[in-house]
Amino acid sequence: MQRYLRPMVFGVVVLILLAIPVVLIALRSFFLAPTEEPPKPQPIDFPHAFHVQTLGLDCTFCHREASTEADAGVPALEQCMFCHKVVPTAGKPDLQKLVNAFDSNQPIDWMRVTQLPDHVHFVHATHINAGIACQTCHGPVQDMAAGKVYQYRNLEMGDCISCHKEMGARTDCSVCHY
Ligand code: HEC
Ligand code: HEC
Ligand code: HEC
Ligand code: HEC
Ligand code: HEC
Repeated sequence: MQRYLRPMVFGVVVLILLAIPVVLIALRSFFLAPTEEPPKPQPIDFPHAFHVQTLGLDCTFCHREASTEADAGVPALEQCMFCHKVVPTAGKPDLQKLVNAFDSNQPIDWMRVTQLPDHVHFVHATHINAGIACQTCHGPVQDMAAGKVYQYRNLEMGDCISCHKEMGARTDCSVCHY
């Protein structure tokens, strides 16, 4: 027994020393929210409030892939033009930009608001199919000012994990990291 004691103590000490950087990195990612950035101006001030509240469009009318894919998807101009072909543009510079972009076959480069680092795996479909509303993570988008959608929830690692614990979803590292 005696002769195993020293190597064992040595082994434990080495393991603890090795664990410290891992724990520090994990703690840092738990408390920091590197995904939060000041919002960048959008190329067109798109009013969610008007389209959702006044026209009564569902979130998934435009963000079609949310319940089937990893990405929710931002609509192609064709989908906007379904209506905007016939909506008058006079005196509405944002609508003139929209129609000009469509006519000249140019996409609109919407600025991403919510973006996780590449090493994190997120799937919209699983969350939507588990009955979680868009607003639980994105907040009251339907009330946000035109062109001013902001990141509502921090969606850092600690945030993801607390909800996973509450709702009984998996929390092993491989669920969210490749
Ligand atoms: C008529 C189409 C349309 C509808 C309906 C719509 N959106 Fe959007 N959504 C857009 C467009 C276009 C953008 C990109 C411009 C922007 O961010 O303002 C966007 C951006 C977003 C973003 C920001 C994406 C990012 O980069 O992080 C979120 C979140 C979002 N929408 C959620 C919703 C929710 C929730 C609803 C329902 C309450 C909804 N949207 C309804 C067209 C739509
Ligand atoms: C459980 C939290 C959660 C829910 C619920 C959720 N989202 Fe997201 N959403 C995110 C995260 C996290 C990202 C960033 C994903 C990334 O960068 O890979 C994101 C990104 C987006 C984006 C931008 C990029 C893209 O195409 O994915 C849009 C648009 C969006 N969400 C719309 C929606 C809509 C609409 C709903 C409801 C149908 C919804 N989200 C429900 C967490 C959520
Ligand atoms: C179901 C029909 C419909 C769809 C789909 C739709 N819109 Fe609209 N949108 C309207 C109507 C109607 C108005 C009100 C026009 C007005 O006030 O003169 C409007 C208003 C707007 C405005 C405000 C213009 C202003 O200056 O007041 C913008 C910007 C806009 N839409 C962009 C978009 C974009 C971008 C898409 C696609 C992502 C889109 N719309 C999809 C019907 C639609
Ligand atoms: C509001 C609660 C909530 C939040 C916030 C949340 N999740 Fe989830 N997540 C769930 C639930 C519930 C499930 C399990 C759904 C099921 O198994 O049907 C899940 C499942 C997943 C899955 C498994 C997908 C699959 O198909 O295997 C991944 C990956 C995931 N979440 C990543 C994330 C990431 C990354 C974040 C933070 C950016 C996050 N989640 C935030 C509730 C949440
Ligand atoms: C439910 C999803 C989820 C699970 C489970 C998860 N992570 Fe993460 N992790 C994230 C998200 C989201 C980020 C990115 C946070 C950010 O940058 O906003 C992250 C970031 C990280 C980072 C990068 C830190 C940094 O500062 O950029 C490390 C390292 C990490 N996670 C390790 C782990 C380990 C180890 C486990 C298992 C014990 C784990 N994660 C489990 C979601 C998860």
